[in-house]
Amino acid sequence: MIRHATIERNSILMLVLVLIVVAIGGLVEIVPLFYLKSTIEKVQGMRPYTPLELAGRNIYIREGCYVCHSQMVRSLRDEVERYGHFSLAAESMYDHPFQWGSKRTGPDLARVGGKYSDEWHRAHMEDPRSIVPESVMPGYPFLAQTALKTRGIGDHLSANKAIGVPYSDEMIESALADATAQANPDADGVDALVERYPGAKVRDFDGNPAMVSELDAVIAYLQVLGTMVDFDAFKVEENLR
Ligand code: HEC
Repeated sequence: MIRHATIERNSILMLVLVLIVVAIGGLVEIVPLFYLKSTIEKVQGMRPYTPLELAGRNIYIREGCYVCHSQMVRSLRDEVERYGHFSLAAESMYDHPFQWGSKRTGPDLARVGGKYSDEWHRAHMEDPRSIVPESVMPGYPFLAQTALKTRGIGDHLSANKAIGVPYSDEMIESALADATAQANPDADGVDALVERYPGAKVRDFDGNPAMVSELDAVIAYLQVLGTMVDFDAFKVEENLR
């Protein structure tokens, strides 16, 4: 067509027209996002981390576990068959910073909660090769021997609250009590803890009742990963499973 030839031969005209087309496409994609209150679909079962889980998460970040482990199951068949239901946006909505990760030296951990017993994790964190002889994961034996630093534990909740995690004042005030109670099934505060954080698992995660250790926190965190949403009740796009 003759008009097409004019455009193709005039690079400035072509550039202007390309920009107009790209701008229309951009507007169609971007403008609706300004009018949505949230782009994250709400999902039942998601709750903020308990203080002990949050402390475990902080240790996870401190120790650089994310360097080898991702926390996002992609919606690809091999991933879904290996790890379980693909990750939903809502599942990391209380994660600051998120742990999606870009490298997997070890497996994805987004759904590791409940996959193994606490005993398994204890032995594995102490010395991964005692369980998986060919593992290249370093051991973290010091976690079991180090008491969890609970000073300022409520401040971590406050910081998360400041960026949108719905921690109440009551949760922040009782952070220390809740952290201790979760690792001690006989403690007084257990009922209050479970009321504040429905479905929280209360156990002596590290098997040492004498101390709330860093290992208690890390295992509490690992055991909650991927367990908050009940996928039997929640079904999306069946054909991807
Ligand atoms: C140098 C890389 C590396 C680092 C750092 C690392 N891991 Fe691993 N991790 C691995 C590898 C490889 C495996 C698979 C073999 C095994 O089970 O030990 C693994 C396995 C695991 C598993 C079992 C997952 C499954 O589904 O079988 C858990 C849980 C785990 N790591 C937790 C952690 C935690 C918590 C940290 C930080 C304290 C950490 N890892 C740090 C490499 C790493």
